[in-house]
Order: sequence, then structure tokens, then C-alpha cells
Amino acid sequence: MGAVILGTGSCLPEKKLTNHDLEKMIETSDEWITSRTGIKSRRISGKGELTHILAARAGKKALEASGVSPEEIDVLIVATMSFHMIMPSCACFVQEQLGLINAYAFDINAACSGFVYSLDVAGHYMVADESKKVMVIGAETLSARVDWQDRNTCILFGDGAGAVVFGHVNDDDRGLVGSNLFSDGRLWKLLYMHGPVSSNPDLMVKDHPGSHIMMEGREVFKYAVNAMESAVRSLLEKHDIGLEAIKLVIPHQANIRILNKLLQRLGIDSTKVFVNVSNYGNTSAASIPIAIDEANRAGMIQEKDIVLFCSFGGGFTWGATLLKW
Ligand code: ACO
Repeated sequence: MGAVILGTGSCLPEKKLTNHDLEKMIETSDEWITSRTGIKSRRISGKGELTHILAARAGKKALEASGVSPEEIDVLIVATMSFHMIMPSCACFVQEQLGLINAYAFDINAACSGFVYSLDVAGHYMVADESKKVMVIGAETLSARVDWQDRNTCILFGDGAGAVVFGHVNDDDRGLVGSNLFSDGRLWKLLYMHGPVSSNPDLMVKDHPGSHIMMEGREVFKYAVNAMESAVRSLLEKHDIGLEAIKLVIPHQANIRILNKLLQRLGIDSTKVFVNVSNYGNTSAASIPIAIDEANRAGMIQEKDIVLFCSFGGGFTWGATLLKW
């Protein structure tokens, strides 16, 4: 029995924010953003389009595509760091929206690596119980978490959600092959976001700057390329799979220069890589599942194709996953 993706879905807010729009808000240019990041536009949530609303819309499409009913879902995992409430979890709101009455639901926060981390957790549930059906969603509204005056960060991020439904098929030659996850908390200061202001004065952060993404861009770039390259290489080695066997790479869509550098290091042809960062920017934990849905609906993935996911994010967290579709 293999744990496969039975259906996919995604949801992007309608409102577009282009580089030309940003030129009117901060001192920047379309040329600077495009050449440094490959991003041309991003989607921004409109009124009421909170993270769990986008997540539920993506999840509904994944349920429809999979032919699985809401009652059949046993576990719901939502990868996010941009929930609108700390309690309950974003996943509990999504559970309510979708009527997943027999599931238990929880969030995973591993920043941009959240979806890859969630796949690993889902895989363990699936191995432990072959009757389980697990929904995994990556969803973010980082428009609510960037400082719109900080041109170093606000140009990078966008909102969106992607979802997959996992179930078993009677075929040992398909399913999740394995994953390789890492984190290094010593490096947190290179990419972070504060939480709410403390009501205990002893725990108060001095001069709390607000819950905004803070980043040392050049350092992040360097670590991201090295870390993803190493995670991919060791994962392939562990499973004795050559790079030539990979049919499609679906990386975290951080920016085009990170992706190009990674591909160059690994020696992967760009025709084997799904890229949509120019349309949506960096949607953090949502970027891989949105890309999976778009690639799947475009007919780019066939049964038994080996697909590689890899990611890097705050923490630092990073990792790679192999799936035989
Ligand atoms: N428009 C115009 N100029 C800008 C902008 C902007 N939006 N932002 C910064 N600049 C300026 C800087 O102020 C600086 O000016 P100075 O030389 O007068 O001081 C100059 O451009 C160069 O700045 P750098 O930060 O050195 O630019 P760099 O070439 O490193 O590009 C970037 C910045 C795009 C952020 C790059 O470092 C990068 O891609 N880093 C990775 C960050 C990332 O992807 N983070 C996402 C989260 S982690 C993840 O998902 C993997």
C-alpha cells in the first residue's frame, strides 16, 4: 500500500499587487525587484480573507478533486505562521469551515518549511494506519505580517493556500518515499517575526518592533542554497535514487535567484522544475502546495513520477521530500 495524493486544491486572493503598484508605495522599481527576485506580482487578501478562509477554500477543492467526503478525513494538518488567532489553531477554524467532523486538527509552524514538515508528519500517520486519510494544507497571509515601509522585505511576500488529500492505494510502487528534515535554532536572528506584546512586564521585549518579518537577506540567501542542496543530495543518496530519475522538482518559491543557484549546484535542468514565483511571490508554507496543485491540474505529473519537494525558512528550518505520485 502506498500513501498517495488523491486530490489537490489551491486558493489565491483576487487582489493583485504588482511591482508597479509597489513603486507608488516605497522607493523601489520593477527592474530592481524583478532582477533580484523574479517576482512581478503577488496576491493580497481582501476584506475577511483570513488565513483559514483561504485554507478552507483550497481544502474544499482538494476534497472535490479527491472524491473524499469531509467525514472521511481523519487528520487535518495546517502549516502556517500567519494565523489570525493564537488559540484556537488555524486548523480548528478550517475544520469548522469544511465540516471535518471526524478529524483532529492542528497547526505546524516551521515557517516556509511548514508544508514539507507537515508531509513528514502525515507520512508517519499513513504508515502507522493504512486506513487513514490525511489532509495537509499550507496557508499564509503574510500581507498581515510584513512592514509595508520596509522595502527589504515587503516586496517578497504574498498570500495564498494550497491543499492535498492523502489516502492509500493498493500499489507498493507508489507513495511517499521519505523526507529529510533539519533545523538550526542558533540562526534564528537571521529571519524572524515577533509575537504579540507581553502582558507580563518581565517577559516584555524591549522596544517591540511589531509582528513583522525581519531578515538578513544576503545571509538567508547563502544558507538557503547550501542547506537545500545538502538536504536533497542526502535524501537521494539515502533512497538510492539518481537525479535523473526525478520527473519534477517543486521547490519552495522563495525567489528565482535562490532557485536558479540551487538548480545549477544540483545540475538539474530548469525544464524539470515548476516555478510560479513571478505571479505570487513568496507565500511561505503555501508555496509548495499551490505549485503542486497548479502542476497537477496542468497535467504535468503522471502516476509513478518521482516528484521532489524542497524548502528553507525561518528557524532556520529546511528539508526535502520524495513522493512517487
Ligand atoms: N528596491 C530597491 N532597492 C532596494 C530594495 C528594494 N525593494 N530593497 C533593498 N534595496 C537596496 C538596499 O537598501 C541596498 O542599498 P545600499 O547598497 O544603498 O545599502 C541595495 O538595494 C542592495 O541590498 P541587498 O540587501 O544587499 O540586496 P541583495 O542583492 O542581497 O538582494 C534580496 C536582496 C532580494 C532580499 C536577497 O538578499 C535575497 O533574495 N535574499 C533571500 C531572502 C528570501 O528569499 N527571504 C524569504 C524568506 S526565506 C525563504 O523563503 C527561503
